[in-house]
Amino acid sequence: MSRLLHISASPRGEASISLAIAGTFVEEYRRTHPGDEVDHFDLWDGSLPEFGPAAAGAKMTVFGGGTPEGEQADAWAAAVRTFERFDSYDRYLFSVPMWNAGVPYKLKQFIDVVSQPAMVFDVHPETGYGHLLTGKRAAVVYTSAVWGPGLGPEFGTDFHSTFFDDWLRWAGITDIQDVRHHPTLTGDYDHERKQADERARQIARTF
Ligand SMILES: Cc1cc2nc3c(=O)[nH]c(=O)nc-3n(C[C@H](O)[C@H](O)[C@H](O)COP(=O)(O)O)c2cc1C
Repeated sequence: MSRLLHISASPRGEASISLAIAGTFVEEYRRTHPGDEVDHFDLWDGSLPEFGPAAAGAKMTVFGGGTPEGEQADAWAAAVRTFERFDSYDRYLFSVPMWNAGVPYKLKQFIDVVSQPAMVFDVHPETGYGHLLTGKRAAVVYTSAVWGPGLGPEFGTDFHSTFFDDWLRWAGITDIQDVRHHPTLTGDYDHERKQADERARQIARTF
């Protein structure tokens, strides 16, 4: 039995296209994996901790071999709790709209909170990073409205999927499939949406 966590980065609720396509994925996943547990982490639900001065200080304390104390200890405990929740799943579905060529800042905040030494990565002076989140699988729904594959730089640059795909691989999650919805300003929205829903169902069936 697998455990699937859907992590969503759009705050747009009922109006969200990435959430709707992820909903199609989840519906098909539940239908074809009736024994699996499926949960949702809405990054905008208020439960994601900040990663500010105390947490950044704690991270550097841990890097230096020390133990965070006081407010650093509290901030570190919140980051560890968030990582442990994330790590308790073996299947991930991320829904990620493009925001200003990158990912919504809540997703970057999530990455900053969970990307901790001895949890997500380690580092060796000669060989570089080690990737600790192995044996997991991810599906990612990427959406944008203006940028699209094949368009010129006047329509923006994709730092969105390139950044997030790189983070997944850096963390050790290399079994990745994506669903894309980039109708662009001149495309056929309904056709693109139908294709995205079909791709989401197709991945979900054997995920
Ligand atoms: C704050 C913000 C920034 C955006 N920036 C871009 C962008 O840089 N390029 C683009 O193609 N679309 C951009 N969009 C459009 C969204 O990526 C697109 O509408 C997406 O499908 C929204 O996903 P959602 O409906 O799940 O929220 C932006 C939308 C918002 C709200």
